[in-house]
Amino acid sequence: MAEDAHGFLELRGVTKRYGALAAVDGVDFTVDRGEVIGIGGPNGAGKTTFFDLISGLTRTTEGTIRFRDQDITGLAPHRLCRLGMARTFQLNSGFDNMTVFENLLAARAFGRRSAGGWLLTARADKQATQVLLDEIGLADIASDPVAGIPILARKKLMIATALIGEPDILLLDEPVGGLTPPEIDELIDLMLGLKSRGMTLVFIEHVMRFLTAVADRAVMMHQGRIIYDGTPGGLANDKTVAEVYLGSAGLGGMA
Ligand SMILES: Nc1ncnc2c1ncn2[C@@H]1O[C@H](COP(=O)(O)OP(=O)(O)OP(=O)(O)O)[C@@H](O)[C@H]1O
Ligand SMILES: [Mg+2]
Repeated sequence: MAEDAHGFLELRGVTKRYGALAAVDGVDFTVDRGEVIGIGGPNGAGKTTFFDLISGLTRTTEGTIRFRDQDITGLAPHRLCRLGMARTFQLNSGFDNMTVFENLLAARAFGRRSAGGWLLTARADKQATQVLLDEIGLADIASDPVAGIPILARKKLMIATALIGEPDILLLDEPVGGLTPPEIDELIDLMLGLKSRGMTLVFIEHVMRFLTAVADRAVMMHQGRIIYDGTPGGLANDKTVAEVYLGSAGLGGMA
């Protein structure tokens, strides 16, 4: 689809105010189809709010958002989902009393793009769910209730839940937060797999090792604004980025 390859997602002057606080402050941001972008920045920088605005969870105070050549400002999350946008959350979510398989199946039904009778599509849905469970490494625990599964499996399930609707862009909020180094490596591989299939990925992540291994473009936010937009390699030498982290953990402390 060449029509929307450039400026696949486009934000202009996007602002979100909570009283006097501009959580996101006049942000211009463009994502091309196939780009893999990692967003960093200190706690409270506005990263999650930025995702909430893009994914329709929060209304913009000012500015416009376009996706696939249409104005999506103010569009509800389920409409965006059907347009091909999916996201995951910083805190793991899922239906705890349902099994891993049932969670994915429910997400598949929710994210369906074209209306079709449940009976007609039930078999295809089950097949797609099984294929994705195999791919993402959750097949062994498919019939376990989500309440008891380990954190890595929860993270994977959340990603699978986003992928089951076959999105064209995936937004991930801290996909490796709370994971051990070997677990992070596993998710790096998973992301690189998605990347090699041409998925457009935008993720928020404090773990710099993950960000630099996966992203081609790094964006740093601070006080609701973008203070860096360039190569991941250039981050370490950027003065503004260094100043933002100076006195706190420092860039090294983000890993
Ligand atoms: N619903 C809300 N009402 C009021 N203030 C909010 C609301 N949501 C976020 N904020 C404020 O907006 C700012 C940005 O928050 P946000 O959660 O987007 O930051 P973040 O960059 O995702 O931080 P973290 O790295 O800790 O996840 C913070 O000062 C936060 O307190
Ligand atoms: Mg956040």
